[in-house]
Amino acid sequence: MGERSDIDLTRPSAARVYDYYLGGAHNFAVDREMARQAIAMWPEVPLIMQANRAFLRRAVEFCAARGVDQFLDLGSGIPTAGNVHEVARTANPEAHVVYVDSDPIAVTYSRTILGDDRRTAVVQEDLRDPGAVLAAAGELLDFARPVAVMMVAVLHFVPDGDRPEDVVAAYRDAVVPGSHLVVSHATHDGQADTHQELYRKRTSTPMTMRSADRVRSLFAGFELVEPGVVHLPRWRPSSPDDVGDHPERFAGLAAVGRKP
Ligand SMILES: C[S@@+](CC[C@H](N)C(=O)[O-])C[C@H]1O[C@@H](n2cnc3c(N)ncnc32)[C@H](O)[C@@H]1O
Repeated sequence: MGERSDIDLTRPSAARVYDYYLGGAHNFAVDREMARQAIAMWPEVPLIMQANRAFLRRAVEFCAARGVDQFLDLGSGIPTAGNVHEVARTANPEAHVVYVDSDPIAVTYSRTILGDDRRTAVVQEDLRDPGAVLAAAGELLDFARPVAVMMVAVLHFVPDGDRPEDVVAAYRDAVVPGSHLVVSHATHDGQADTHQELYRKRTSTPMTMRSADRVRSLFAGFELVEPGVVHLPRWRPSSPDDVGDHPERFAGLAAVGRKP
């Protein structure tokens, strides 16, 4: 990877810190230091991230099983095990996926591993600019057919001032009935706010945790599929053993909606 002026090595990045939590190798000392600080305060953090990744896999399988073969993965992150195109293609080898992230390392590494795969594209854009994202994604995806819009562990990086409901609505209005919205979101329901504080002070992507009601409001114009907005392990677990005794400790909410 050549040197890039837009990679900030002086501050942790949400994408690289997340990569560290998942056991990835695309992070720097500054990211690892912040991740260790978070784990010291909140030892469950890596497990929560793994539960998030497991939700992403189940949600892609769910959409694919309902015939969706186009995925717009917003805030896709640094590629790791179980990327959207890998999961989607086990159901349908023709599935098309557009990955979108604002982080230069996430984008560069995604492009490196996807190479010249013609059924995937990687776009460096801010998801808060739906016009730019949709124009770029439209080069690969056919918006006249259903699309799964994925916003997994990313909307908590959109502060209230940037009107997350309006951002989601712009994507909703761009997709046809039968499309799906997949969301996971950090929540403070029953949790201390220390994690939120750490991201606010240290990273360029401060974190806004939201309640279950607020996450539900992101689904305006979608019908929530069962079981609605629930803690990560509770969303259609592969086995009851995956849920454990305290799913609320997984301080993330998950839901999938379908545009009627
Ligand atoms: C915690 S990671 C989640 C990665 C993946 N969606 C997952 O759940 O495994 C959040 C990602 O969102 C990206 N991100 C944050 N704000 C963004 C924005 N406004 N536009 C695009 N990407 C954003 C970060 O760069 C990071 O890669």
